[in-house]
Amino acid sequence: MTVVFIGFITSSCANRFYVGGEDGWVEKPSETYTHWAARNRFQINDTLVFKYKKGEDSVLVVDEMDYDACNISKPKDKMEDGYSTFVLERSGPMFFISGVPGKCRNGQKLCIVVIASRDKKGTPYQPPSIAPAASPVASPAHSPAAETPSASYVLSVSGASVVMGVIAVLLGLF
Ligand SMILES: *[C@@H]1O[C@H](CO)[C@@H](O)[C@H](O)[C@H]1NC(C)=O
Ligand SMILES: *[C@@H]1O[C@H](CO)[C@@H](O)[C@H](O)[C@H]1NC(C)=O
Repeated sequence: MTVVFIGFITSSCANRFYVGGEDGWVEKPSETYTHWAARNRFQINDTLVFKYKKGEDSVLVVDEMDYDACNISKPKDKMEDGYSTFVLERSGPMFFISGVPGKCRNGQKLCIVVIASRDKKGTPYQPPSIAPAASPVASPAHSPAAETPSASYVLSVSGASVVMGVIAVLLGLF
């Protein structure tokens, strides 16, 4: 039962992102969309939700050139229902701008990068650990370390007694 439950959680963990948070999709967001995007981690199958006043705005899906130029003339896709959802179906950069002339230039533009991996830990692929190969080195099989403390203790004791002896001699001399 537990295993089935965990499996369910894992497979349904695609997230919904409300673009711009409280502000939604607006001309002058209190937090820039660049900043908002940087705070989030977008993965394949996540959904973006753009909220705005229907009839007064729209969302254009564009390429990087049109994003940079705020060019609204030939979008790849256009959404204008006021509550536009966009499923991120592939990895890589995605570009969105407002379809209302001038708004993109005032900051209503969003660029995100969708990452491919869906693993929960969020760590990129790492080569197999080399720890097993290194373990003989760290192994306590040969451990002179165990003797070292007492040896250095003896040394320091004898060193101390030498010093004491020297002091005693000096004291005796003067
Ligand atoms: C995205 O969802 C589809 C349909 O649910 C699924 O087949 C696909 O494996 C998912 N892709 C990733 C990367 O999770
Ligand atoms: C906008 O894009 C169209 C088609 O891609 C192009 O013909 C036009 O010159 C562009 N306009 C600007 C201002 O870059």
